[in-house]
Amino acid sequence: MEKKISPSVLSADFSRLGEEIRALEAAGADYIHLDVMDGQFVPNITIGPLVVEAARRVTTLPLDVHLMIENADRYIDAFADAGSSLVSVHPEACPHLQRTLQAIRGRGALAAAALNPATPLCVLDHVLDDLDMILIMTVNPGFGGQKFIPAMLDKLRRLKALLASAGKNIPVEVDGGIVVDNIRTVSDAGADVFVSGSGILCTPDYAATITGMRKRLAA
Ligand code: DX5
Ligand code: ZN
Repeated sequence: MEKKISPSVLSADFSRLGEEIRALEAAGADYIHLDVMDGQFVPNITIGPLVVEAARRVTTLPLDVHLMIENADRYIDAFADAGSSLVSVHPEACPHLQRTLQAIRGRGALAAAALNPATPLCVLDHVLDDLDMILIMTVNPGFGGQKFIPAMLDKLRRLKALLASAGKNIPVEVDGGIVVDNIRTVSDAGADVFVSGSGILCTPDYAATITGMRKRLAA
């Protein structure tokens, strides 16, 4: 599967969000990752559909929208209408996960489930047909700039084995603590799509960093 890079604008300068997104597109990003936090499911509060809609106007890249919110069902329509290409929801916040994933697809977006580090893979057992992507959190969600949790490598290997035995070719995304120096190890464990916030946006040259990541992935 082709490896993709999805910079998270959580570490962007929000006073210049449009420019930052354009710079990431010019730097070779495959997606733009937008982190939606409600101060309930996670301790932090970030953006809502209005900002997704604004992002939609400044790039043609797919918008990878990560909902870290309680009651995700209530907001699927709003985020789909705002122009999300892919919507990730946390099973921990969706009591009727299959219905939620169907609702996302029903609004024309791709559907993903995002699993916290301590959430077991078995939550996916009965929804594999409803998933366009699986997001494995490699930090506890809520903040940028945290350290990658090494135990997630084994989780990724297990997920890959599970998908292979089920005959499913669903891309696996990782989110949290991904930097040039660990991207290859995480890729070898089974990740296909790499979210990176501070690992890209806290470096001086986004293009050089993304190119550096791609070199590590290809080497
Ligand atoms: C964490 C968010 C991430 C965050 C990643 O709660 O879901 O997308 O932006 O940031 P880094 O890459 O700095 O860990
Ligand atoms: Zn995220």
